[in-house]
Amino acid sequence: MKSPIRVAVTGAAGQIGYSLLFRIASGAMFGPDQPVILQLIEAPIEKAMKALEGVSMELDDCAFPLLKGMVLTDNASVGFKDANWCLLIGAKPRGPGMERADLLKDNGKIFTTQGQIIDSVAATDARVAVVGNPANTNCMIAASHAKRLPAERFTAMVRLDQNRAQTQLAKKAGVDLTAVQNIFIYGNHSPTMFPSFAHATISGKPVPAVITDSAWLQGPFCETVGKRGAAIIAARGASSAASAANALVDHVRSLVTPGAIHSVAVKSNGLYGFDANVWAGMPVRTTTPGSYEVITGYAMDDFAKSKIAATNKELVDERAMVTELLG
Ligand code: NAD
Ligand code: LMR
Repeated sequence: MKSPIRVAVTGAAGQIGYSLLFRIASGAMFGPDQPVILQLIEAPIEKAMKALEGVSMELDDCAFPLLKGMVLTDNASVGFKDANWCLLIGAKPRGPGMERADLLKDNGKIFTTQGQIIDSVAATDARVAVVGNPANTNCMIAASHAKRLPAERFTAMVRLDQNRAQTQLAKKAGVDLTAVQNIFIYGNHSPTMFPSFAHATISGKPVPAVITDSAWLQGPFCETVGKRGAAIIAARGASSAASAANALVDHVRSLVTPGAIHSVAVKSNGLYGFDANVWAGMPVRTTTPGSYEVITGYAMDDFAKSKIAATNKELVDERAMVTELLG
């Protein structure tokens, strides 16, 4: 039996937390032979801590063999202590009529403190995955406060967008979901994101050779994927939670699986024409568990270049809004 890893989760009593924790404890995120200790962090609010207690009772009642312990806390220094993975979900979700960037002022400051604390108390091999919106910029804020942990350990989630894009392409082509491969998300987790359909394949053929309606690919397809979060808020009255939790399971599972090819928002370092210091979605290949290399060399046509320029501009603008939060 492997020794347990420590997984810190913020916003653990929230909507996403409620769909996520049971799957981590069941082995879906780290594998069926990897025991876990869950370090559950909530805001210092009585109601939230009480709800967290209820969630931990339910986790107990599942009798998960892999769950070797739980820490329940509203103190981030306790919650992130020796954590191998830090899953940063705790933040306000947007409501109808808002863009995710509207959350920056409220949510951005959470990631300043958490970045500092993770850097001082988490395990030496700590990895960080940011879900709280606006995820790319919050991730950049947290990473900017880390002096010990390298920037590449901080990733933000665009996997929900990748999963959404895969389904939309499969539906349009009338094929099984698994026939769609290599659909990657570039840029911001926002309506400007670019699902790069030209490099994706359906049953091994380039998507544009199978879906020949290029107006649909450039228009409704990109728009549906980009605005899916808002469509869910409009229909459900609350932001996506189960699909977001599922995407985080996929994000981390792919990052601990050598050879996996998937979309992650990482420090761009200037790749694909992004500003070097923004966190942008791009294709990566997992090398060793927790580490990855960006897949470079996908050629971009003029349409793709213009989409990447637009999403890069938005990321640069978001960074300008939070300069006082950067370390
Ligand atoms: P929620 O309101 O149900 O839960 C958020 C939880 O975070 C609450 O329990 C709250 O008490 C807690 N919290 C707030 N500040 C905290 C702090 N400083 N430390 C620890 N906990 C804190 O919201 P939710 O539906 O779970 O969504 C959480 C975030 O995830 C939102 O910002 C939402 O927009 C974002 N989200 C991102 C994606 C994505 O693809 N990146 C997808 C869905 C949702
Ligand atoms: C999503 O994409 O569903 C989430 O980021 C929630 C939102 O605000 O859209």
